[in-house]
Amino acid sequence: MLAGRQGKAVQKAMQILVALGKIYGASRMVPVSSVQIAGVSYDNLGEAGLEWLSEMAENGGKARGLATLNPAGMDRDNWQALGIPADFAEKQQRVLDAFSSMGVITTCTCTPYLVGNLPLFGESIAWAESSAVCFANSVIGARTNREGGPSALAAALTGRTADYGLHQPEHRQPGITVDVSARLVDTADFGALGKAISEKIPAVNADGLKTIPYIRGVDSAGVEQLKAFCASIATYAGLPMFHMQGITPEALISPPVESVTLSQDDLKAARASLNDALSSEVDFVSLGCPHLSIREIARVAHLMNGKKVTKEFWITTARPTKQIADMIGYTAVIEASGAKFAVDTCCVVAPIRGRFRAMATDSAKACYYAYAKNKFKTRFLSFDDVVREAME
Ligand code: F3S
Repeated sequence: MLAGRQGKAVQKAMQILVALGKIYGASRMVPVSSVQIAGVSYDNLGEAGLEWLSEMAENGGKARGLATLNPAGMDRDNWQALGIPADFAEKQQRVLDAFSSMGVITTCTCTPYLVGNLPLFGESIAWAESSAVCFANSVIGARTNREGGPSALAAALTGRTADYGLHQPEHRQPGITVDVSARLVDTADFGALGKAISEKIPAVNADGLKTIPYIRGVDSAGVEQLKAFCASIATYAGLPMFHMQGITPEALISPPVESVTLSQDDLKAARASLNDALSSEVDFVSLGCPHLSIREIARVAHLMNGKKVTKEFWITTARPTKQIADMIGYTAVIEASGAKFAVDTCCVVAPIRGRFRAMATDSAKACYYAYAKNKFKTRFLSFDDVVREAME
């Protein structure tokens, strides 16, 4: 591959992997069973990114196994209703076409594990979406570093990744125990927990890389709460992995001796810190960061049945998940209220900078980017209260 006998795209891809392997001291490549590629929105890629992808596609790049895609900057079918400019839509479509011609499945979701890209315990994979990386390592027990867009594409085109970091058991060990005494009820609590833990655990080096925590005291957590937690701890602590007692398959070892506690007051403070908008200021409401599961869409439909929204309300999810919602009838109920499905995209990667004043959400990750990227204030609420906010 490196010598170019399998074409220019494969050669370029292998050059990327070899360079990374050298930087991180890998002695070999390992095969990957699954790839998730991020860096899909034209808003982030720009012209240089589009050109690079087009070149890889023209040079014959083809995915060698299961490879799926992160959200794009727009809903492919419904971009006009979401106020996406036509010139952006044209560029975004070219990005998607390039991935598609390379055999990457354009699911455009950050929850690949909900729509058919579900690796198993112990498998080596190459994923690039930070929340999904955390989910894969910590909940599923698959092994992946936090790839960038180019290195994930390189893994797709070669079927391999360099063997370093979280592919090796010694780098997956926790360094500090976090004893949680706070009561966790909803997805917002789990998002706030991720932020609160990130403030409690120390950095292990000058780059600010955080110690992997061993979390105990979380009595129960479903898929929706865990995806909210993974998104938050990946955002605020930059962590690609945690151990949670009763959840993480590898969390069978003795917990680290060094420990910190996380109280109800810590959780309350984290929730409060994500709230700087009054209800009267909210002009945008969004659920689905990470993308909603079908169970969450069912809940939205239940809460909105027969009601009307008073604000722009985006429901962001994977296209295959919406297709289930279409089939069951949830979509009809939700759209009758005036809320909009924003499939293939989300409130962070769509080009909506400065378009709204304040956003209501149950996602701690979305709060971070609403402020950092889009300059919105945020109202951080429980899932059900977000839906109610859209109707007030
Ligand atoms: Fe997914 Fe967008 Fe949030 S990619 S995790 S919905 S920022």
